[in-house]
Amino acid sequence: MEIDRLGVREWEGLPARAARSTFANLAAATGRAALRVLLTLACALLAVVLLGQVRHARAADFVPVAPIPLVTPPDRSADRASLQRGARLFAGYCASCHAARLVRYGQLRELGFSNADIVAELDPTAAKLDEPLHAAMRAEDAKQAFGIAPPDLSLVARAKGRAWIYTYLRSFYSDPDRPMGANNLLVPDVAMPDVLAGLHGERTAVFAGQDVAGAQAGAGRHSANGAASGAVSAAVAGSVAPTRVFVRFAQGAPGSLSPAAYDSALADLTAYLGWMAEPAERQRHRLGAMVVGFLLLFSFAAWRLLRSYRPADR
Ligand code: HEC
Repeated sequence: MEIDRLGVREWEGLPARAARSTFANLAAATGRAALRVLLTLACALLAVVLLGQVRHARAADFVPVAPIPLVTPPDRSADRASLQRGARLFAGYCASCHAARLVRYGQLRELGFSNADIVAELDPTAAKLDEPLHAAMRAEDAKQAFGIAPPDLSLVARAKGRAWIYTYLRSFYSDPDRPMGANNLLVPDVAMPDVLAGLHGERTAVFAGQDVAGAQAGAGRHSANGAASGAVSAAVAGSVAPTRVFVRFAQGAPGSLSPAAYDSALADLTAYLGWMAEPAERQRHRLGAMVVGFLLLFSFAAWRLLRSYRPADR
């Protein structure tokens, strides 16, 4: 002790007490800093844990709908009357929100409409015949109203496939928890209102609780059609996601169409969306068959010609 004190006293000539208090201050300051860091870390940890709990609780509240199988509509792409009915449905129920800018009003003549028909029935925006199909609502207003601007539907039939569109339109049901009062089995929490509710009537969806086995079976069956719902990706990733499995619609007040007539109207609408996505599809198929037929005939003629020119002795 004595030697220590002497040593301190001799060290740079500082008085022992001053030297000791400097060390003490330093030690105390270091301690306080360490304490502060520890406290901050503890708070951060607590925050992370609490946030995790909240997210966990919210995830537990939300039970996704198991993917439903796609239904293929009857092929009416060659049926003019059906395409015309589809065009009328589109103008009456879809054109208020959706544009189709790759199709012009005048092109609807290809479906057998006259200019007067187009102006009177199919052009709710009173555009000129050489203008593209407009939406009546401005995209910005629609975005404000629905949170997402209704996409242009010119190519949707090629992008998603006819079966997807047909199934999508058949899958709307009332859901008071949604801002628009409607939900969709194929696109859960969809932003689009159930604009055809007047045709199919009031209906709600009946689900079979949280069926874990159903979720896995559903993922196995339907992942091939590319449905991108969270339930599928979770199930495909191997985790067990609880899902509600759709059982049936509970019909309330009936709409203006019977279920069969409603499906038929949707087949018309889907055929029309297919025509918009590729107006020349039928022509392309016909031309393809003609070209292959011509090539076959030509091959035969060339072969006969070769035979007749070849010297007989070879
Ligand atoms: C009141 C406005 C409104 C009307 C009317 C409307 N839609 Fe929509 N539609 C939307 C909105 C908004 C979306 C985007 C939904 C989403 O992504 O959640 C949408 C999305 C779609 C999609 C999905 C497109 C994609 O690429 O994901 C299709 C198909 C569609 N609508 C078809 C139709 C058809 C057919 C009609 C007519 C029967 C129609 N819509 C009428 C607002 C509307």
